[in-house]
Amino acid sequence: MTARFEGKVALITGAASGIGRAAAIRFAQEGARVFCADLNFAGAHNVATEIGGNASAVHVDVADYASNQAMVAHVMEHAGQLDIAFLNAGFYGAAEGLGTVDEAFFDRVVAINLKGTFNGIKAVEPVIAQGGAVVVTASAAGVIGHPANPAYSAAKHGIVGLVKSCVDAFAARGARINALCPGGVETPLIGAADVPMIDPQDLPRVALRGMGSAQHVAEVALWLASPAAGFITGQAQLLDAALLSTFAPVMLPVGP
Ligand SMILES: NC(=O)c1ccc[n+]([C@@H]2O[C@H](COP(=O)([O-])OP(=O)(O)OC[C@H]3O[C@@H](n4cnc5c(N)ncnc54)[C@H](O)[C@@H]3O)[C@@H](O)[C@H]2O)c1
Repeated sequence: MTARFEGKVALITGAASGIGRAAAIRFAQEGARVFCADLNFAGAHNVATEIGGNASAVHVDVADYASNQAMVAHVMEHAGQLDIAFLNAGFYGAAEGLGTVDEAFFDRVVAINLKGTFNGIKAVEPVIAQGGAVVVTASAAGVIGHPANPAYSAAKHGIVGLVKSCVDAFAARGARINALCPGGVETPLIGAADVPMIDPQDLPRVALRGMGSAQHVAEVALWLASPAAGFITGQAQLLDAALLSTFAPVMLPVGP
């Protein structure tokens, strides 16, 4: 393994499971000191324990402004720097189409996904390190409509607009901000179990149209946060195995 993030400090929200867990493990494998943040503190603590070393857990409710401020203050108090923020916590809920979605569900989805991202951005912007990077998890549903869950799609579209609108503020600090827009990802969000990490070289190159693994997304988050992606900011990066590119199902070839 390379160590792209030796000496760096990474904060990952939604780190108790799925994409956030995979990213926390991979950032740590590549040398970062990771703070695993989640509403599910026990889950975040388990991930930090699984990682070992100087990884640790911090509680956050991303929907709460003050909680985000406290999370970042905790990182600065204990590590003294923040190089990478992966603002990834999110909530899908039981998909509700327009006919059944109610105000409470809409408000909850927007509070966690969109306002949660705003809260995270507001908390990290004043302290992000020169050369630092923020990566935010939006969704393919942030680029096209999602009739099964319009609240979620609206919130994820909002995240993309927020990220694009924050480029200058982060550039002024010598930092970048980008959004990830995954298609379907096999995580607890859609009822799949968390799985062990594998060598990135062994990740399946095959993807049934739209579906990927948490580690597929984590690897792109790491790359976007790395200096290799230094020319990229303000983007909404799709990772969807051509879900939004073709009418016909796509099956990429297996193997090297
Ligand atoms: N799984 C997919 O198909 C898919 C596709 C596109 C985008 N996404 C997005 O990816 C991100 C990660 O989701 P995942 O698939 O890994 O799901 P997941 O359910 O495994 O992980 C989401 C994590 O966010 C945490 N969380 C929820 N509400 C929170 C809050 N208020 N404060 C702090 N933490 C909170 C949960 O406890 C959980 O650990 C989300 O933003 C999700 O919308 C997922």
